[in-house]
Amino acid sequence: MQFMLSEEHEMLRKTVRDFAKKEVEPTAAERDEQELFYRDIFTKMAELGLTGIPWPEQYGGIGSDYLAYCIAVEELSRVCASTGVTLSAHTSLACWPLYKFGTEAQKQTYLKPLALGEKIGAYGLTEPGSGSDAGSMKTNARLVGDHYVINGSKIFITNGGIADIYIVFAVTDATSKSKKTTAFIIEKDFAGFSIGKKEHKLGIRSSPTTEIIFEDCKVPKENILGQLGEGFKIAMMTLDGGRNGIAAQAVGIAQGALDAAIDYAKTREQFGKPIAAQQGISFKLADMATSIEAARLLTYQAAWRESEGLSYGMESAMSKLFAGDTAMKVTTEAVQIFGGYGYTKDYPVERYMRDAKITQIYEGTQEIQRLVISRMLTK
Ligand code: CAA
Repeated sequence: MQFMLSEEHEMLRKTVRDFAKKEVEPTAAERDEQELFYRDIFTKMAELGLTGIPWPEQYGGIGSDYLAYCIAVEELSRVCASTGVTLSAHTSLACWPLYKFGTEAQKQTYLKPLALGEKIGAYGLTEPGSGSDAGSMKTNARLVGDHYVINGSKIFITNGGIADIYIVFAVTDATSKSKKTTAFIIEKDFAGFSIGKKEHKLGIRSSPTTEIIFEDCKVPKENILGQLGEGFKIAMMTLDGGRNGIAAQAVGIAQGALDAAIDYAKTREQFGKPIAAQQGISFKLADMATSIEAARLLTYQAAWRESEGLSYGMESAMSKLFAGDTAMKVTTEAVQIFGGYGYTKDYPVERYMRDAKITQIYEGTQEIQRLVISRMLTK
């Protein structure tokens, strides 16, 4: 067992860190404030190969692995959690199922432009009445000739409105318990597909979240992803890896908040010395750093397991559970260390705290992670 990152992973970390500092951080506060998504940041990430990290070159990727992908999400989230989740949803939730279940033609048509960053991907599972109980979805697809006709709506879609390709789940056989749903590849220009309400959120405000609406949306039969009736399994398997991307995002948010808190604690003086030299603050910093390191190790381990072809669903749920809680705890402490200043928008820690909260909610709430972990422990 060894805990050193390879030279390739270290290089990627440095590349992403430099990019994030230069291209992402300077506009993070204004994008947050004004709820703006800048496509040119995504295009610049594509130029570095970040939009297709784990996929082979023949599909537009750079042929690296899931650990490299997690490192990239972490480093982006260290300065801007919105940019981190844009990449995470694109890679884990749209590209991954295409890579795993797509036909060769689907990979060439859809995965390749996504991996090259010419297009953005999204994933649609949640509905107004179907959140944690994902299997209770109502959106349905009916076969009419050589097309499926989809009706319904999906909510809380990360990359909604900016995505070109959506992986969407719909009921194709309401009478079957185990083979009820099917996955579909939806292009944004398909007739009957539209973007609904845009959410105004507490955090990750420069990552657009919208409703997507299907009104007699015509989808060619060839756009079924995987087998008919296999949709729920594809959705769950996709989330197995996606959750670790969110863990990486949470680690990055927490690290960004700790970086800021350390800088501040070293320069802010009270009672005649820097607050970092006061035990009440220095012990906080020690606890924050320790939790982040534990979260990072869980996250890297799950990513490594996926890259090695080992099981990783339970480990991914654990990393998301622990890293999400760590991000919330660490960012709250960072605001505390900044005191009154931390509560203002003059410093980034209030943004980190707002951004951290979603990591305890999306891609399965913390309660759902516990359900997934405990089921795996006892099955
Ligand atoms: N891999 C493969 N198959 C799986 C699986 C997995 N991880 N999890 C479940 N399945 C299979 C089961 O084996 C079972 O198959 P059979 O019928 O053949 O036996 C079938 O799926 C049904 O499984 P369950 O009985 O476990 O299903 P359930 O109804 O009890 O639900 C759940 C399980 C874990 C609670 C699931 O509903 C769930 O994960 N809910 C949370 C949903 C979620 O995470 N939503 C996030 C939305 S996406 C998002 O947030 C994106 C974003 O914005 C960034």
